[in-house]
Amino acid sequence: MPAGPEIRPYRPADREQVARICLLTAAGGGDATGVYSDDTLMPEVFALPYVEYAPELAFVVADPSTGSGQRADRVLGYVIGVADTAAFAEWWKREWAPGFAARHPSPGAPTGHAPAFTEAQLIEAGTSPDRMLIAELADYPAHLHIDLLPELQGRGFGRRLIETLRAALAERSVPGVHLGMDAANIGAREFYDRLGFHELPSSRADSPLLGIATS
Ligand SMILES: CC(C)(COP(=O)(O)OP(=O)(O)OC[C@H]1O[C@@H](n2cnc3c(N)ncnc32)[C@H](O)[C@@H]1OP(=O)(O)O)[C@@H](O)C(=O)NCCC(=O)NCCS
Repeated sequence: MPAGPEIRPYRPADREQVARICLLTAAGGGDATGVYSDDTLMPEVFALPYVEYAPELAFVVADPSTGSGQRADRVLGYVIGVADTAAFAEWWKREWAPGFAARHPSPGAPTGHAPAFTEAQLIEAGTSPDRMLIAELADYPAHLHIDLLPELQGRGFGRRLIETLRAALAERSVPGVHLGMDAANIGAREFYDRLGFHELPSSRADSPLLGIATS
């Protein structure tokens, strides 16, 4: 009998699948394909720097029974994080921003959609990591992103991925983890509330900022 989806550590070979899942869930939880003039923008801001900087804090849900060809298994979801947001922002400035700026020198023509970020804001986010330096970093130095394809949602994997990352952070003596989210993503907010995340003082109605202790 096929084993079904399982949580496992991220591997470099998962990179493209992680980027694709990011794109497919980046419009308030739904598909952001074609929302921006370049589909690589979202993953280059919200997924790929994370797996490059901290692959040991990335976990995927993969289904070994649905792989094909050279791909050993199919990735259906992930949680990615960094333990020290301030150190990550420094790395981003040095290692990620220059290449990002060269690949994305200016925003493309507006698409007519109304995403949470305009293309210009997304390009700004890719070049200015100081946006990540929230006031609560002493207690919540880590931050995370989590995305599951629709077929994996509602099966308990989101909860288990968050618990996996919290445990990995606790092992590294990181006291807390935070995340920023799109206020329009009502389902995600219900999920975080259910797991025990709470609003941090810097949270704003249009851009909620949530945190939780790691243990
Ligand atoms: C949001 C997301 C990570 C949740 O993961 P999930 O695997 O679907 O959630 P789970 O099945 O683990 O649910 C965990 C708990 O949250 C609750 N929950 C999850 N989604 C919910 C929703 N939309 N409404 C109400 N409760 C919800 C579940 O009922 C469950 O409660 P229980 O464990 O006490 O029974 C996932 O749906 C997802 O990736 N969505 C698309 C991308 C996205 O929005 N990412 C977050 C960006 S900030």
